Parts: sequence; structure tokens; C-alpha cells
Amino acid sequence: MQANVVVAGSLNMDLVTRTERLPRPGETVFGQSFTTVHGGKGANQAVAASRLGARVAMLGCVGGDAYGVQLRDGLLADRVDCVAVRTVPDCASGVALITVDACSQNTIVVVPGANGCLAAEDIRAFDHVLQGAQVLVCQLEVPMETVGCVLARGRELGKVVILNPAPVSAPLPGHWYGAIDYLIPNESEAWALSSVPVDSLESAGRAARRLVELGAGKVIVTLGALGALFVSAHRVMHFTAPKVEAVDATAAGDTFVGGFSAALAAGMEEDDAIRFAQVAAALSVTRAGAQPSIPLLRDVQGFKAP
Ligand code: RIB
Repeated sequence: MQANVVVAGSLNMDLVTRTERLPRPGETVFGQSFTTVHGGKGANQAVAASRLGARVAMLGCVGGDAYGVQLRDGLLADRVDCVAVRTVPDCASGVALITVDACSQNTIVVVPGANGCLAAEDIRAFDHVLQGAQVLVCQLEVPMETVGCVLARGRELGKVVILNPAPVSAPLPGHWYGAIDYLIPNESEAWALSSVPVDSLESAGRAARRLVELGAGKVIVTLGALGALFVSAHRVMHFTAPKVEAVDATAAGDTFVGGFSAALAAGMEEDDAIRFAQVAAALSVTRAGAQPSIPLLRDVQGFKAP
């Protein structure tokens, strides 16, 4: 069955500790628990899109280790097509060291491992997968050249192209912007890309407008409890966040992006797709972990604001 959403990106095993509070530099604190959880921004977004109703294919790389087998099996169990997930022998799978505190804030250190091997040739080898999709989704946990290749090919093929610029460590190449239909940063990514400090709804709007001026089609800044801000050349719209009891914010942004992609692929109008993605992300915040926290379509459809 042809995928209607294709995600090119990372797969990580998340090594997660919970602590009362995050340690300061040089400080040792006791953790309360340790778990290994399937994660990686690419894989999380693929799982979210699949659980939320899309037919999804993933382009990515895992290492030739036990984590690689587990990560691929996890995606398959979520009905994500893994034909284009390559195993790189003699390479470790990506891992993320995550610490979550009592306020559900987290810090994440990612060691890319095999994710660094996803090359432009991999994208070209699976061009038929891209051709069959409606929506293409990328993040920045795989090499920039590879992301650039997906964006350019997506634009050539006339697909809906979504970039979640996470994590961001440098400005995006200028020529990328024109290939992006939806740029979905959080507040710190919007700040880093636009050079506009973001500490309010108003400043998020200025940052997003700058990103539209740079050439992005539409920008959706995800602002956690403050909701989401949509900005295009013609329209600004704020979407308030559903209120939930937060347990762990890991993968909330990924759930938003995956949910939004699935909603667009299902033919939902843009504003409804944003609201749908917000409910999915809010539900993910009420549960611990990356992929274990991502809701199913029926959870989102049955959501009632408390
Ligand atoms: O966005 C959350 C993800 O970031 C985690 O699953 C971790 O793997 C890192 O990629």
C-alpha cells in the first residue's frame, strides 16, 4: 500500500531518567527511574502520523546492533513501512540521553550514530516512495545535505513539504526556504532561525513573519502551553492550547508535526489540522516517554477538554 506521508529522519533509542530537578553543570543528582524508550524525532513523527490515521513510510538508518532491530520492529508494529530504513553494519544506532524533572521539563543529548549515514543516495534510491506520497516531513537529526535533497525533491514533485527545524544549530541554507510549505519550529528554534528573540506571543509573531520573508510558505510556531501561532504572508492566527495535566513533554512537538501531517493527508483544512495536532500533542504530554506517549486517532477524536 502506497504511503501518503513519508518521513525522512532519525531513529533513536531514548535512555530516560527521571529526577526531582535537572542537575546543574558539575552537579550529581539521584534519579528516580531509568527506562529505554523508542524515540528519535523522525521515528516519533512517523509513529504519530501512523497512529493518527496516515499510511506512513520512513526513510532512515539504524545501526547493526540490538537497538537497531528493536527500533525497526517498533516502527513495523506501528504499521510504518520500513522498506527504506537501512541497517548500517559496524555502526551504533542513534541514542538520546534524556533527563525529565518533576515539572516535566527535559534536557536531551543526541548521539546520532547511524542517523549520520542517511545520505542523499538513500533518498534517490527510494524516489518512488517520495513520488507516491502527498506529504513529506523532515527534521534536522540527519545530515543537512540529505534534508536539503528531500526538500528540493519534494518541491520538484509538488508535494506538501514540512520541515520541523529541530534541533537547530545553524541558520538554514537560504535556498531551502522556498521549498518549504510548512516550517514548524518551537519558540527557541524560531528565535535561532530568525534572530528575533522570542519570549511572548507578539515576538513569536515577529520571528515567524521574518521566516516567511525568508521564503517559507507558512510558519507554525509551537509554544507549549501558550498554544500555536500560524503566520503566512496573508494571515496570522493564534490557536490556544488544550489544557491538560503535564507529565512529560518529550515528543510533544513530534506528535504535533506527525498529527498535522496525517490530518493534511486526510484532506483536513489547515486550521482544523492545527487543532487536531494540538489535541494529539496535548494528550502526549499527559504520558511519559517519546513513542509510548503518542495517542491513537480514537483518543484524539474522543478528547474532551477538562
Ligand atoms: O523530540 C524528542 C526526541 O528528540 C526524542 O525521542 C529523542 O530521541 C530526540 O531525538
